[in-house]
Amino acid sequence: MTGHPAAFLDLPGGARALVFDEIDSTNQEALRRIRAGEGQDGLWITAKTQTSGRGRRGREWLSARGNFFASVLVKLRIPLARASELSFVAALAAGQSITELIANKGCVSFKWPNDILIDGKKAAGILIESESGLKSKENWVVAGIGINTSSAPEGVRYPATFLNNYISDKINENKMLELLSKAWIRSLAVLDEEGFGVVRKLWLNKAEGLAREICVRVGDDDYKGTFEGLGEGGELVLRLADGKKMEIIAGDVTELNL
Ligand code: BTN
Repeated sequence: MTGHPAAFLDLPGGARALVFDEIDSTNQEALRRIRAGEGQDGLWITAKTQTSGRGRRGREWLSARGNFFASVLVKLRIPLARASELSFVAALAAGQSITELIANKGCVSFKWPNDILIDGKKAAGILIESESGLKSKENWVVAGIGINTSSAPEGVRYPATFLNNYISDKINENKMLELLSKAWIRSLAVLDEEGFGVVRKLWLNKAEGLAREICVRVGDDDYKGTFEGLGEGGELVLRLADGKKMEIIAGDVTELNL
């Protein structure tokens, strides 16, 4: 399902976007294009609403009109095993664009692995999906970014907020995309030119809960400990009460202020 006909939009820095009114999921559309051999490196897919928006760990991403949904296609220049680095690049880009929009009206921070918080509440989320095993032998990543611009879903696991709580002007989705696309180009250049170590440092500068006691859910288990930093590939490093160090590859931070 590709929704209604889409229009192309030119973005600063030579980037382009394909804009849908309604679609199942911008990530899904990006993956469809890649699988069909029609992937374009750096192309954005956006929609005003999604009927099957996807969140991390198989969850649904409620996609109310008025909020922002976009995915960017990336032809990988790094090994597939390092694809998760792009989720931190996406977090930096989303964090920067949100900061530019709300200026100093709220404090933007990151919650591992790649949620963007304003004043401690979730305002945006990122879903990275990869595609390999293609005839072309290329590896692709889709970085999907959902930003709560005009509303936040209710009854969610972690407190949520939206950008219009901080600025009264209605946020134009093309303006949001322009800021995000520019920030994405800058953040990707940091990875390409300076390496993941610098991306990790920038992310840690705004990490929520660093050096504090946090709780992380991995599968059905909760682990409490001190959030010591990120491992080489972006793993969450937790120091448990017994002194043991744990490196968590996938999980959810459920509490940041124990
Ligand atoms: C999360 O669970 O926090 C990640 C949410 C990612 C949502 C975005 S919205 C645009 C893109 N398309 C999707 O279906 N999901 C991502």
